[in-house]
Amino acid sequence: MAIYLDHAATTPVRREVVDAMLPYLLEHWGNPSSGHAFGRAARQGLDEAHERLAASLGAEAREIVLTSGGTEANNLALKGVAWASKARGHRIVTTAIEHHAVGHSLRYLEKFGFETIELPVDRYGRVDPDELEAAIDDRTILVSVMLANNEVGTIQPIREIAERVHRHRGILLHVDAVQAAPYLPIDMAGLDADLLSIAAHKFEGPKGVGALFVRHGTHLLGQQQGGAQERHRRAGTENVAAAVGMAVAYDLARAEQAETVERLGVLRERLAAPILAVPGVELTGHPRDRLPGILSIIARDTDGTSVSQALDLEGIAVATGSACTTGSPEPSHVLAAMGYPDEEARGALRMSLGRTTTDAEIETAAVAIPRSLAMLRLGALAIAADPLGQAGPADRQRGIAARA
Ligand SMILES: Cc1ncc(COP(=O)(O)O)c(C=O)c1O
Repeated sequence: MAIYLDHAATTPVRREVVDAMLPYLLEHWGNPSSGHAFGRAARQGLDEAHERLAASLGAEAREIVLTSGGTEANNLALKGVAWASKARGHRIVTTAIEHHAVGHSLRYLEKFGFETIELPVDRYGRVDPDELEAAIDDRTILVSVMLANNEVGTIQPIREIAERVHRHRGILLHVDAVQAAPYLPIDMAGLDADLLSIAAHKFEGPKGVGALFVRHGTHLLGQQQGGAQERHRRAGTENVAAAVGMAVAYDLARAEQAETVERLGVLRERLAAPILAVPGVELTGHPRDRLPGILSIIARDTDGTSVSQALDLEGIAVATGSACTTGSPEPSHVLAAMGYPDEEARGALRMSLGRTTTDAEIETAAVAIPRSLAMLRLGALAIAADPLGQAGPADRQRGIAARA
């Protein structure tokens, strides 16, 4: 049986979610904008999805904009605020470890005269709220900080950050909560953020659907023109079944959150202990303030791609970095910002557990992963010690022992 330890990339859709979606694919398939009975049935499902998702987030239904996922939610938040606030200023403050859906949106906005200030992070991937506040000036319109990082799992001190941002009148705070949503209790009534992004496929909902929370009264310019859907903030016929699925998936995730977080925390530690005991292996990210399911490491003298390929052959799915950077030769911008040189970042591996991860899977992985890491590391050291393969086995062993 294959073992899936890549839940930060995506999660399987749960049965209850599929069951809730099916009637909107097979029976109530009308266009929710149509005035007839077919349309009204679809509209009802769509309205209920807005309401249910809003209730789980401590928001109002009108504050939820459905999108095609986390990437679009982030694009809409940044570009929508930037263009709507252009007359007030052009500076946007962010961090060096954001997902590319934020980072690359900002690079795009720079082409139109917006200025981005990218804050550094510490060795654990945390932003200093004092440094963040110092970067805010009277031309600043927006601050965008992720709630938890997708590569190393580090959680940001978001309440402190929100408090600093809102000391300055008129500056908006966007939070990318895509990775955090399944595990941290998000309550928009208590969290002082103006915009917040989520994506259903990270919490056992369908792919290709997400939401942007936009606090009532926030000025946002829609980035997709056409019909009047989503209160003019996102044109295009809504994917009703996906919206229903997302609302159900998030509701279930919230209801089971405390239990899931506790169980995953225990399983992660069980997996971490033998892996971190392998010589040359180090934990990346914050030792405590991290998502419960993410175990990210650097294994010196190996490369993550070789390890993940070897594990794939054994039926264990892990990631070298985030899914979006796999296959790209660029080293992780997150690890670089945390101070890891390229040659160390090459050895990055991310194992991410999810609600459906079992004790038996972790028991197997806790043997197989350290074994692969140790073997590949020894192989790499042997090649480094004797690149032309001229030494005898005893010499090679001595070379490895000297380096290990
Ligand atoms: C932190 C973060 N933001 C945004 C995204 C993009 O979300 P989506 O895949 O739904 O476009 C991801 C996906 O991995 C993510 O982890």
